Amino acid sequence: LPGLTSQAATAADREGATWDEFVGELRRRAGIDFRGYKSSHLERRVRGLALRSGLDGLSGLLTLLDRDPSARRELERCASVAVSEFFRTPRQFETLASGILPRLLARRRQLRIWSAGCSYGPEPYSLVLLLEELAPGRAHFILATDIDEALLSRARAADSFTERDLLHVRPRLRQHFIPSRPPFHALRLEIRSRVMFRRHDVLDDPPEDDFDLIVCRNVMMYFSPAAKQRLLQNLHRALRPGGYLFVGDAEAVNDLQEAGFSRDVVGFYRKELGVS
Ligand SMILES: C[S@@+](CC[C@H](N)C(=O)[O-])C[C@H]1O[C@@H](n2cnc3c(N)ncnc32)[C@H](O)[C@@H]1O
Repeated sequence: LPGLTSQAATAADREGATWDEFVGELRRRAGIDFRGYKSSHLERRVRGLALRSGLDGLSGLLTLLDRDPSARRELERCASVAVSEFFRTPRQFETLASGILPRLLARRRQLRIWSAGCSYGPEPYSLVLLLEELAPGRAHFILATDIDEALLSRARAADSFTERDLLHVRPRLRQHFIPSRPPFHALRLEIRSRVMFRRHDVLDDPPEDDFDLIVCRNVMMYFSPAAKQRLLQNLHRALRPGGYLFVGDAEAVNDLQEAGFSRDVVGFYRKELGVS
């Protein structure tokens, strides 16, 4: 292919790369590791990127990556689906507010909470809004992480939420938002400042530990079964005994139980007391 050095030219480039060859080549050339993701979803997005960019399939993307470092961002973004909203699946957030959080707050004055795969912020900010309502003025540690720096910047700024993002925000909680550039809404500083945002790859970076609650929703569904199991074991270790994992609707019960979690109410799994 034009633009490839003979050294970099591999069978994958010459013959049109298969997905597996592409994943291996991407890791070797650019250190981007797609092995933990389900291939069906990711392959569709990556091939779509190649098509939109007028490139010759997966091989074309590899060639571009050699010439144009900004292609790296575009490729990494394929693994990141940013969809979110405040109080996503409201019924489960009600369970959180009426059952799980009061139980945790009775146990400990200041909670350690981690929103893993937080996208542009609605999830961790929903947690702050609930905590502010349930036990105002307590200083909890709320960590929110994502693999995508651009999403984290948006999350930190917290000034571009749409009406769609706020659909499930109860009228009483709307007071914490102020209009920013129309049609966007911003979160007031006292809510925004409660969350610490940090880049973290759940498939690669070691997690912090001692959490009372970990929220990891609509993230694992993009991972391969092996990567998902590894992640669940890490999350189990990162929880305090008696702590909870709050997952998305699509998570399989068996995977969670295999990793050591006990099922609680719908959407919530527990690390039993007495387990380290
Ligand atoms: C569909 S969003 C879910 C957002 C939020 N948890 C929710 O349920 O509304 C998935 C998020 O996972 C992030 N993500 C994907 N792979 C990741 C990884 N390996 N480590 C950390 N975050 C990842 C994406 O960047 C994206 O922001």
